[in-house]
Amino acid sequence: MPLSRRQREVLHEMGIPVWVRRGLAGVEAMDSVPRAPSEGLRVAAPVEPTPVMSSAGVSPPVAELDWEALRTRVASCVACSELAPRRTQTVFGVGDPHADWLFIGEAPGAEEDRRGEPFVGRAGQLLDNMLATLGLARGENVYIANILKCRPPGNRDPKPEEAAACRPFLDRQIALIAPRVLVALGRVAAQALLDTTVPLGQLRGEDRAYGGIPLVVTYHPAYLLRSPADKAKAWADLLRARGLMLRA
Ligand code: URA
Repeated sequence: MPLSRRQREVLHEMGIPVWVRRGLAGVEAMDSVPRAPSEGLRVAAPVEPTPVMSSAGVSPPVAELDWEALRTRVASCVACSELAPRRTQTVFGVGDPHADWLFIGEAPGAEEDRRGEPFVGRAGQLLDNMLATLGLARGENVYIANILKCRPPGNRDPKPEEAAACRPFLDRQIALIAPRVLVALGRVAAQALLDTTVPLGQLRGEDRAYGGIPLVVTYHPAYLLRSPADKAKAWADLLRARGLMLRA
């Protein structure tokens, strides 16, 4: 599919030479035989949080909640003793609840904690540009969520127990959205979803899956702001994701 003028402009803004277009056919051809996730990668086991007591009794498990009940449950979560008291609000996610694309980041930062929406800072602008290269826009057939719904203090990495406590919420979002392709943005998201400590460089570039849904691993937009030379690799990852979407 040829790139639109807007997509070419965004690629230019991202510092990606438009000659990368010539790689499109090659990338899609390389992707034509889906591979199984690499050996040695385990599938993360979701942890169901302790049932919540309400005046009506024990609340239903997260895996049975509808979208609004899930949002409410997330907003009242106090599972992580270091995160819950410090947050301004939880950051549930944003976008089309029936999207084909689900982009998953790490955790809210300071601005996201203030505004209640993921990826609203400079990294968010770059993510929007990355979406535009695919002909996508935030909220239109795209959902954006994070591994954690609360901001870790000082923007430290999520702790494994925090990621595990928050996982049922993300899993329920995935089940309700039923996306056709997942994109893990950065090491933290990729390692958490794939339950591995394998470095990002080795997780990229291979077709993976989470819960039976194709998963593409790419760089975090904040990393790309610091290392613009890797934007061309991120573009290759997005083309891989588009190839998976076309086959999904
Ligand atoms: N980085 C993330 O991983 N998620 C956000 O929501 C913002 C920045």
